[in-house]
Amino acid sequence: MLKVLQLVFVILIVFYATSLASPNSFNIDSKKPRKVAGSPSPESSSAIDSKQLTNAVRLARGLPPRAPQFRRFFPGVRPNPFNASASNPNLATILGIIQITRFDDGELVGYVSRELNSIPGSAASSQTLAITTTLMTALNVKFTPNDSLFEITALDGLNPLYPFLGGAATSATSVDLVSGSPNFVYITGSSSADVGPPTVVGNSYGSVPSESSIWNYDKSTREITATWINADKTSAPTYLSALPMANSTSLVLIGDPAAFNATYPGSYQLKFTLMTFQ
Ligand SMILES: *[C@@H]1O[C@H](CO)[C@@H](O)[C@H](O)[C@H]1NC(C)=O
Ligand SMILES: *[C@@H]1O[C@H](CO)[C@@H](O)[C@H](O)[C@H]1NC(C)=O
Ligand SMILES: *[C@@H]1O[C@H](CO)[C@@H](O)[C@H](O)[C@H]1NC(C)=O
Ligand SMILES: *[C@@H]1O[C@H](CO)[C@@H](O)[C@H](O)[C@H]1NC(C)=O
Repeated sequence: MLKVLQLVFVILIVFYATSLASPNSFNIDSKKPRKVAGSPSPESSSAIDSKQLTNAVRLARGLPPRAPQFRRFFPGVRPNPFNASASNPNLATILGIIQITRFDDGELVGYVSRELNSIPGSAASSQTLAITTTLMTALNVKFTPNDSLFEITALDGLNPLYPFLGGAATSATSVDLVSGSPNFVYITGSSSADVGPPTVVGNSYGSVPSESSIWNYDKSTREITATWINADKTSAPTYLSALPMANSTSLVLIGDPAAFNATYPGSYQLKFTLMTFQ
């Protein structure tokens, strides 16, 4: 199992590096064959910083990766956004993983995990997005930011039936996020839904209304934020938060950090930042 994960990881590194070496192959939907073989071609290897392969080599030899902090894990690789150039619309699509830090002090919490978190005491299928502390199990995502709310697609992991990162109301009646209220919605895998209000399209939490077109992206800071749409179609005040549970922590959207914390002590506000392998 570990060997398989390692192989997948090596392939991912080569894939990202190859994508960078050949801008036309960056578009995931491109018809152009993508190079995902285990050994890089001369063309792609010339674009790969030799230091960048060090971990791939370590992994291929069955050695453990380095400490799971981005800068040390991928030496020489800076978490920069792809430059979305108007002359090449393909570059407007961004691939990466989502780094999670504490909103108050910036401390690294981890990454959005490719493995869903089962809610203790609920049906086995009630699953939310979770935090992982290792890049090996971080979720790879893809999105094309626009001036409105857009969708973020999971490229691996989660439940393939619900590949969009979305919000799921905690009850069958739609949940509004409002100032002064501890209301929250789980961040889940969701089926595709237009910009809210929440509708029953299917999600990894249960048969409750959800939204998937909730994301904003700031190209200059790489921060990913969310905007939940309430039942009356107005934009809710929306904050990202961690909700610690029995054995794990769920990711949630909330409308009032102080009110939420008063009801769910131990919760803490989060910041999402995109990391790419450029
Ligand atoms: C992106 O590319 C354009 C055109 O090459 C350049 O003017 C702009 O400064 C670049 N932006 C960043 C953030 O690198
Ligand atoms: C938490 O984990 C422990 C050990 O794996 C397990 O016995 C327990 O049932 C779990 N609790 C919940 C609420 O899932
Ligand atoms: C923004 O992108 C989403 C897909 O992520 C799409 O559904 C929506 O129509 C787009 N909005 C605009 C204004 O382009
Ligand atoms: C959350 O509430 C606890 C008390 O229950 C308090 O000690 C803590 O400072 C609060 N945290 C935030 C971020 O408001």
